[in-house]
Amino acid sequence: MKVLVTGGLGYIGSHTVVELQQEGHEVVIIDNLSNSSIEVLDGITKITGIQPEFEELDLRDNFELKDFFKHHQDIDGVIHFAASKAVGESVEKPLFYYQNNVSTLINLLQELQKQKQQNFIFSSSCTVYGEADKMPITENAPIKLAQSPYGNTKQIGEEILRDTTKINNDLKVTALRYFNPIGAHSSAHIGELPQGVPQNLVPYITQTAIGLREQLSVFGNDYPTEDGTCIRDYIHVVDVAKAHVVALERLIKHQQTSNFEVFNIGTGKGSSVIEVIEAFERVSNQKLNYKVVERRAGDVTSAYADTIKANNILGWTSSLTLDEAMRDAWQWEKKIRKNN
Ligand code: NAD
Ligand code: UD1
Repeated sequence: MKVLVTGGLGYIGSHTVVELQQEGHEVVIIDNLSNSSIEVLDGITKITGIQPEFEELDLRDNFELKDFFKHHQDIDGVIHFAASKAVGESVEKPLFYYQNNVSTLINLLQELQKQKQQNFIFSSSCTVYGEADKMPITENAPIKLAQSPYGNTKQIGEEILRDTTKINNDLKVTALRYFNPIGAHSSAHIGELPQGVPQNLVPYITQTAIGLREQLSVFGNDYPTEDGTCIRDYIHVVDVAKAHVVALERLIKHQQTSNFEVFNIGTGKGSSVIEVIEAFERVSNQKLNYKVVERRAGDVTSAYADTIKANNILGWTSSLTLDEAMRDAWQWEKKIRKNN
């Protein structure tokens, strides 16, 4: 099949392009390079031996998007990653986030509605569950009031898609709610490229270990968990990427039970911040400099996925471990610092 991957030079997008190509699918990428680099194209090509088609295009630009679809009428499915994702920045710039994450989705759907094939995978997030009442979190858990404009764009995106499938029978949508994607491709040709000071745990750990940051701050150890630090469901980005291939193939084979489906993409296992640090220390053979500080505003105590629906209905299960993810994140960090 021929797959359009928006945001395909970004972190999760690039790993998904690799998995699609390795399963024999043809890929065309749209990206405006606002949070990625053109060199990612070389990284993908080094792994798969195939350079994917790339269009530098901003999804906010309706005219360019129209023109794109005029020249690509043979697309079998769309995987839509392109969005901005910095929670803190979204609080500072809400209108930018609603424009870049919501209006781009509308633009894309308006063009897609004119196409023969309307199979669509949407990047959603476990953030839609907020502080969930029960662990593990199933797809039926209530959607809580969003804690940030970013989180809200994911909720609104799901609603737009659900409403549109109700009136357009040709549109088939799967929303994948990722838990915490981490790690990099084991080849170290592609990985995460955080801009500025990382907000997320794993790049902060690897940047501290490589000497770019002085010390990791652990945000609170007085949570009601075993070691007092927060619990998350960290999942290897390659497992996340594979879920997209499975989800798209399911749509193309008409295996979906409704035109709007939602799946949790996690491992089902929660790990504390301290356990992630310990995993890093194990695979890197070095101690990490960290200290416990105040809680970070907005953090939930615990969030890990119930994966039964993804395992049994989607037919996808994660297979890589936390140690493997930390090993690959570390290999990637060493590689990019060496190249710099
Ligand atoms: P990323 O920033 O690495 O990738 C997004 C890509 O989209 C970038 O390459 C960026 O240049 C591109 N882009 C942004 N706005 C665009 C526009 N207007 N037009 C064209 N391209 C544009 O992010 P990621 O971590 O790969 O995340 C991918 C998707 O998954 C996002 O929708 C994100 O919200 C969602 N998500 C990510 C996580 C995570 O932890 N990384 C968790 C849950 C959900
Ligand atoms: C992040 C996103 C969220 C997204 C989710 C899933 C933020 C604020 N939230 O949340 O929108 O849906 O990923 O991908 O970016 N930690 C430290 N020190 C650090 C960094 C983090 O102790 O320097 C702790 C945090 O308190 C948290 C855990 O590590 O307990 C994970 O943090 P992070 O990587 O930011 O992910 P989430 O908070 O789960």
